[in-house]
Amino acid sequence: MKTVKIHIILYCLFIFSLLSCNQKKEQKIEQTVNVQPEIVLDLVDLQSKNKLGKDTVVTVSNDPVYHKTKKYHAVNALLLLKNEIDLSKVDIKNTLIVFECIDGYKPEMPLELFLKTNSFLAFKDVDAPKDSNWEKIIKNGNEMNADPFYLVYTTAPTEGQEYKWPYNVIKFRFESKSKNIEALQPKDDQKAMKGFALYQKHCITCHAINGIGGEMGPELNYPKSVTEYWKENELVDYIIDPASFRHKVKMPKLGITKQESQEIVGYLKYMSEKKTDIRN
Ligand code: HEC
Repeated sequence: MKTVKIHIILYCLFIFSLLSCNQKKEQKIEQTVNVQPEIVLDLVDLQSKNKLGKDTVVTVSNDPVYHKTKKYHAVNALLLLKNEIDLSKVDIKNTLIVFECIDGYKPEMPLELFLKTNSFLAFKDVDAPKDSNWEKIIKNGNEMNADPFYLVYTTAPTEGQEYKWPYNVIKFRFESKSKNIEALQPKDDQKAMKGFALYQKHCITCHAINGIGGEMGPELNYPKSVTEYWKENELVDYIIDPASFRHKVKMPKLGITKQESQEIVGYLKYMSEKKTDIRN
């Protein structure tokens, strides 16, 4: 008799858990219905499958990394994108193309702008020495190379911030413009808004807030905001000139003024009240 009771109880529990699981699943599906499916091009994977397209040689005058005219063995990045992704299904105006690099650096630009010019993925420098694919890149006193890919353009401006020229690129990722901005925007605070604009321009490629942004530098908000463990005036000075605090820093001096730095810190303080749990 006892075992029958236990069986009945177990059966009820089983049915109950099935029901609640189903409910959860339904909720999840509802939440994700309006979100574009994630689009990622894994360039290294495509290369290993010989799917990058035809090799060609391109000339880049005034190359912004080498500061001279360069020639590269490359594949056409725009064609690759068009072959791999059905762009007619993408909301181009509302999409960013993010270039993911080996060290977590994630520069991005509007997809619409990217589609307007001839872009190439360089995989070998024509002038490379015998033992390397690339002429050396010297950055902050360190020698680097551009493996596996260096994104270059033959018809885009080589100066300014509009076009990104990342090397060590491994993936292209499409992200919705509004999704990230909405999550980080201080809508109800005009002052923090100014700091946010500066943060977007100078910091987001390397740092995340609540898990959104680059990964080359540390997350700045979660679980503890930098404003909670740095003295405010020192944080302001650090952002202006990191090397005056730490030997061999990777964070560059960005040409930020004191007032701008204060505005950025104001924004970081605002966000310290808006933590979202990013463990899930
Ligand atoms: C090119 C990448 C890069 C950019 C751009 C950048 N940082 Fe950093 N940042 C780093 C790295 C890497 C570190 C870790 C320390 C180091 O090696 O420099 C760091 C460290 C920091 C720290 C110290 C964190 C801690 O816990 O001690 C703060 C604060 C910071 N950055 C804020 C900013 C702000 C604000 C901006 C924009 C104005 C910015 N960073 C732009 C790469 C960057």
